[in-house]
Amino acid sequence: MHKVNKVSDLRTIIRAWRSAGQSIALVPTMGNLHAGHLCLVTEAKKKADRVVVSIFVNPTQFGAGEDFESYPRTEYEDQTALNELGTDLLFQPEVSELYESDAKTVVSVLELSKRYCGASRPGHFDGVATVVCKLFNMVQPDVAVFGLKDFQQLTVIRTMARDLNIPVDIIGVETVREQSGLAMSSRNGYLTTEEKIVAAKLYQSLSIARDCILAGQLSFQEIECNALLFLRESGFKPDYFNVCRSGDMQSAIETDKDLVLLAAARLGKTRLIDNIYFSR
Ligand code: PAF
Repeated sequence: MHKVNKVSDLRTIIRAWRSAGQSIALVPTMGNLHAGHLCLVTEAKKKADRVVVSIFVNPTQFGAGEDFESYPRTEYEDQTALNELGTDLLFQPEVSELYESDAKTVVSVLELSKRYCGASRPGHFDGVATVVCKLFNMVQPDVAVFGLKDFQQLTVIRTMARDLNIPVDIIGVETVREQSGLAMSSRNGYLTTEEKIVAAKLYQSLSIARDCILAGQLSFQEIECNALLFLRESGFKPDYFNVCRSGDMQSAIETDKDLVLLAAARLGKTRLIDNIYFSR
């Protein structure tokens, strides 16, 4: 596995692969890799001749008072796991390599970036869209692979690539869950043993809501209220619970068929997100 931290070195290797007619898949990550990330790499390997994984804890997507400094960094374990999976190139730049100190350009996907997670994390999706756009420009991948756990992030990235005519095929990969149903996330590491048991109720709230909708309950507002109540009674401080259309992520109405249920809630110091999407 090549390991580079300079954009110029990344480009040299990519150029050689391109000259040999090889296709390239990119898996952008912030490291602290878990089984969910490893599935992204496995999927990427099926889609292209070469797989590039980036590890970059992107400061511009963290707000003031968020966990940028304390975000788990597990360089050695990540490298070992990526090597074992047959990753071709690990790109792990410093902040100064990725951002000019006087950078003036931000990529912003309007409206959607301000809803749901964007409402409680102002600027978060601008940071995501900007860094992913930069990574797309650096790697120029044929395919890029992201987790469906961050459903809104995936929609923001798809919209950004469409609007900016970036020729990349964006693939979403199923959320990997613990046996309890808890979605795998680097932030699960912040949970205490007791909190981890309660955390599984976030997925339970989504599953209950989905089952109600599939059983014909069509008052989405009532479903949202019941889910928020369930989360509060379980010990969470819910941020939002919304029934949305999966295509454009607008609030769903009774006639919509393809839905995504989105939830975010705090448990102690940890903010958790999850979703379920389905058709009826
Ligand atoms: O999902 C993540 O890990 C990050 O938001 C991403 C897409 C790597 C951008 O920094």
